[in-house]
Amino acid sequence: MCWVTRKCGKFILGFSMLSAVNIDASYGRKQVLFRASISIEEQDRLLLVGPNGAGKSTLLQVLVGLLVPSVGKIEFSGRNISSWSTRKRITSGIGYLLQSENIVPGLSVRENILLGGYSIKRNVLATRQAEILDVFGFLKDKLDVRAGLLSGGERQALAISMVLMQRPRLLLLDEPSAGLSPKAASSVLENIKHAQDVMGVKAVCMVEHNLKVSLKWANKIVVLIGGKVAHVSDEPGIYLKQPQKLEKYFFKKASEAEV
Ligand SMILES: Nc1ncnc2c1ncn2[C@@H]1O[C@H](COP(=O)(O)OP(=O)(O)OP(=O)(O)O)[C@@H](O)[C@H]1O
Ligand SMILES: [Mg+2]
Repeated sequence: MCWVTRKCGKFILGFSMLSAVNIDASYGRKQVLFRASISIEEQDRLLLVGPNGAGKSTLLQVLVGLLVPSVGKIEFSGRNISSWSTRKRITSGIGYLLQSENIVPGLSVRENILLGGYSIKRNVLATRQAEILDVFGFLKDKLDVRAGLLSGGERQALAISMVLMQRPRLLLLDEPSAGLSPKAASSVLENIKHAQDVMGVKAVCMVEHNLKVSLKWANKIVVLIGGKVAHVSDEPGIYLKQPQKLEKYFFKKASEAEV
């Protein structure tokens, strides 16, 4: 999807890395997304927020191909990927972190990391694993520990490292710091920033309820209410100072959405 923006009096032509336009999606007869659109550009740190049940996880599942929308189009790097399988989307550069059950607790940390690299050629696996351990250094000492014995923060770091094994250009993260203390949540976000700096991740779209921590990280915010996009802003920082401005969207009905 092509867009035009004006900066310092000049018109700039750009392309979305990923765009989903007018998405309708349902579970059986229950419609959850209603003409929802989202655009993610390179360098975006997009925060997708909204109340419980708003459809945030559903939207990510649509983007990664786990749920087929009844209406709408998805483009990635200029190609229409609407009919692509999840596997093809992932091997083409879209990384996806599930909201829950995103590690295998009975396997060791090393085995989980290797599982994340399931489609990578054998000769690249070791290099990729070393790259991951440079970002998540603390996992080096725990490679033979059963993943189920890690702390909450360590588990999420492991889950993110599994996603990074594919070296995605775009990361879709569903509540990476759910259930973590503010300190552990900040540390997960630091790891994500680091991955963006050193592992070729060009953009991140993250669902998060912990606004205090994630608003400091984001450069764009999308609010989803009742399956509709209710608000988009390129200035998430203003909500850090005035969270009540953001909270007011949470209490709006989907029918009052402004976009
Ligand atoms: N597999 C499913 N089958 C049927 N309904 C589902 C399924 N998954 C989600 N839903 C319903 O779809 C709606 C949106 O759910 P979704 O998980 O996308 O919300 P969410 O915004 O991610 O919420 P949360 O913040 O609680 O994670 C909810 O009403 C939920 O009950
Ligand atoms: Mg969810």
